[in-house]
Amino acid sequence: MALWGGRFSEEPADAVFALSRSVHFDWRLAPYDLRSSLAHLGVLESSQLLTADVAAKIRTALQELTREVADGTFIYKDSDEDVHSALERGLSEKLGDIGGSLRAGRSRNDQVAADLRLYAIDAMLQTSTMIIALQGALMAKAAEYSNAPSVGFTHMQHAQPVLFGHEIAKHVHAFNRDLDRIDDWLNRASVSPLGSGALSGSSLPLSPEATATALGFKRSAGNSIDGVSDRDFVAEALFLISLVGVHLSRIGEEWCIWATTEFGWADVAEAYSTGSSIMPQKKNPDVAELARGKAGRLIGNLTGVLAMLKGLPFAYNRDLQEDKEPLFDSFDTLALVLPAVTGMVATTEFNREKMAAAAPAGYSLATEIADFLVRAHIPFSTAHEVAGKCVARAEAQGKELHELSDSEFFAIHPQLTPEIRTVLTVEGALTSRTTFGGTAPSALARQLVILKSEVTAFEANFSAKLAAFSGMMSA
Ligand code: ARG
Repeated sequence: MALWGGRFSEEPADAVFALSRSVHFDWRLAPYDLRSSLAHLGVLESSQLLTADVAAKIRTALQELTREVADGTFIYKDSDEDVHSALERGLSEKLGDIGGSLRAGRSRNDQVAADLRLYAIDAMLQTSTMIIALQGALMAKAAEYSNAPSVGFTHMQHAQPVLFGHEIAKHVHAFNRDLDRIDDWLNRASVSPLGSGALSGSSLPLSPEATATALGFKRSAGNSIDGVSDRDFVAEALFLISLVGVHLSRIGEEWCIWATTEFGWADVAEAYSTGSSIMPQKKNPDVAELARGKAGRLIGNLTGVLAMLKGLPFAYNRDLQEDKEPLFDSFDTLALVLPAVTGMVATTEFNREKMAAAAPAGYSLATEIADFLVRAHIPFSTAHEVAGKCVARAEAQGKELHELSDSEFFAIHPQLTPEIRTVLTVEGALTSRTTFGGTAPSALARQLVILKSEVTAFEANFSAKLAAFSGMMSA
């Protein structure tokens, strides 16, 4: 049943109906559409546009419909165009003509914008919970390996020794920034478009502010034209999700590398690995690969929506219907990847011996020589040069740095006394990195305490917001 029959004497062509139909994907907005209809009903009633009697009947029917949508007894039909028309049909089937009363002072243009905001807020809060669970797994692994020496890389070459717990903990910081951005987004997305109508507001005595409050929004749109056209919240959400995806992809890449035979650092649990149909020995890190691969799809959804919005005339254009599938897909994708990566992280065991053996390899202690000289007041540029000569000398003889003789050190620079050997150990290098955020055991312990309190604060914040949102939805 079309919502706009009066002016037309012809039905839309089949191809037009097929092209414009959205109910098969926007049906997931049904709970939010019903909830915002209840809020709209409240305003129509309090401004006496509906009698208490009619309002009570509509309220009961909306509540029934909410239950029937939840348990699947009310579902859209082939002939329904979108979620709004399907639900209005449901209301009219229960109430006859008065089912159409809710359309007063409201258009699908402000309605769909409100529904999508509610959906996005809900989905973003669920996503936060999953991110926090992953942070929990990362922090547990970081603590487990907080005393395990390994080597850090720059340019994928051995750089300096680091504690492996420090290596894992870095990811928690990236997700903290994501959660911070999400919180910021929640504030900006919290605008109710209801009351904007088709584009110009309403001549009826509505209260957009009251509708906004009833739905838990912080404010209502300050400009009705912007109210129906603003999809910044979609573009921003897609960016946030993409960046979470990028962070997951970098975890994925590390796990893939660490699980190679050449590295042999990571033993990914069987439950989080897959086999090969032809090579019986294979244990592939598919979770890590999909975490890496799905980021491309998330970025694609972001760029697709930005391209759709570019140059779009204001108020409503049907192009805007193209905002939904990418947004749904991005949230759905994260909902698949996050728990799988969390499980993979929680169950991977790392080979302490191999990581420790790698720690000093590749002359990763060369910076210690330079720092030793700096402490003896040699300018760093000279110290760097001298340390480089030590590496060249050791490399030419196939030796490690600490294996150079006292006279070799002295010949390279007179201040390279035998005491140099005290800093040429992994343990020495690690314990000396005590700067804030450094890899020393003491600095890492401090870092983990700070991370724990930051993540706990996010957890409290988002669970309170989720509880408030669920309370609003079931009010
Ligand atoms: N299905 C539409 C969408 O997703 C709903 C709004 C339609 N509005 C209109 N004036 N045709 O954007």
